[in-house]
Amino acid sequence: MPTILATGGAGYIGSHTCVELLNENFDVIILDNFHNSVPEVLSRIECITGKKIKFYNCDVRNKENLKKIFSENKIDAVIHFAGLKSVGESCKIPLDYFDNNVSGTINLCNVMKEFNVKNLVFSSSATVYGRNPIPYKEDMPTGDVSNPYGRTKYIVEEILKDLYASDNDWSIALLRYFNPIGAHESGLIGEEPNGIPNNLMPYISKVAIGKLEKLTVFGGDYDTKDGTCIRDYIHVVDLAKGHTKALDKILSSSGIQIYNLGTGKGYSVLEIIKAFEDSTGQKVNYSIGPRRAGDLAANYSDSQKALKELGWKTQYDINKMCKDTWNWQQKNPNGYK
Ligand code: NAD
Ligand code: WQD
Repeated sequence: MPTILATGGAGYIGSHTCVELLNENFDVIILDNFHNSVPEVLSRIECITGKKIKFYNCDVRNKENLKKIFSENKIDAVIHFAGLKSVGESCKIPLDYFDNNVSGTINLCNVMKEFNVKNLVFSSSATVYGRNPIPYKEDMPTGDVSNPYGRTKYIVEEILKDLYASDNDWSIALLRYFNPIGAHESGLIGEEPNGIPNNLMPYISKVAIGKLEKLTVFGGDYDTKDGTCIRDYIHVVDLAKGHTKALDKILSSSGIQIYNLGTGKGYSVLEIIKAFEDSTGQKVNYSIGPRRAGDLAANYSDSQKALKELGWKTQYDINKMCKDTWNWQQKNPNGYK
């Protein structure tokens, strides 16, 4: 079976994807600098899968360390999760975001090229669509983004398109994730944000467990069914499975492929709160507050392309997403600590 290097494989999406890769019998090597994750994740992945993983503590910006990994292993493909991901933080320290996300990717691709490894899956984001009409489709124009984080994703997409144009031996998938939530149903791995969460679902579960007092719903006056914003929430395990399908595709062809990974359905913030309450029996204390700068009223995916070309579709509904979030939260009230 092919050997896959997962950069940022100890993170939220990376850890769930490594579980699915191991379940599909891929050999997995994880590289991470633990900027936003902890070593405990690795033993949890091994515990779920009953398989060993090879790990390197390495920063993707460190060329010498990357070369060592590529010279010690025969790598068939790379999934590049490693990066910084907070929209708010990216407005405060944009240079760190460009350095990590853009320079890190260039460094990785240079080393891949040197070792003739030209199969790459890149973690992109629905944020590259900006203000397009919904549902978002892969062939829509991109780049109208409102923050440095989103710009790093757009720039890396453009760099990878140029890379393929320069050398058609590359086989690259740009996966545009929508809003991943939930956790592995074992409750052993999940999302543990540092400090106060920026994202909706981790915030809700911290309110439910009593670590935060109240959720503020950012805006109740949008032009949507109930006045709150609409997003395409996707179970992280469904998202993870999309990566194994994308790998199958890029390992059997060359080209640059772009896929939305979303459910194709939108839920409002109030619907998410209700779904969480209904599926867990927990009350979520909330009030409606002002809008958050930069939020769009509604977005969701057209997920037909991934269905047609990868044979991938989501399995888990919103109730399962909420239940698994709560299971993870209850079993790990202090995260991995
Ligand atoms: P995460 O922070 O949980 O995981 C990222 C991992 O990369 C962490 O383990 C971190 O320690 C590591 N990392 C960061 N910089 C590194 C570096 N320079 N060298 C080595 N390791 C490094 O984030 P996530 O939610 O799992 O996201 C994974 C990828 O998916 C990111 O690129 C993110 O931008 C993208 N993405 C995430 C979302 C989301 O909502 N979570 C949505 C769209 C796209
Ligand atoms: C969802 C909805 C908020 C918190 C972000 C990034 C995007 C991608 C996914 C990486 C919105 C509302 C939230 C709160 C709230 N990440 N909300 N109260 O903004 O859709 O997407 O994460 O690529 O790039 O921008 O996700 O979870 O922050 O918000 O009312 O305390 O919940 O206004 O409508 P978002 P989110």
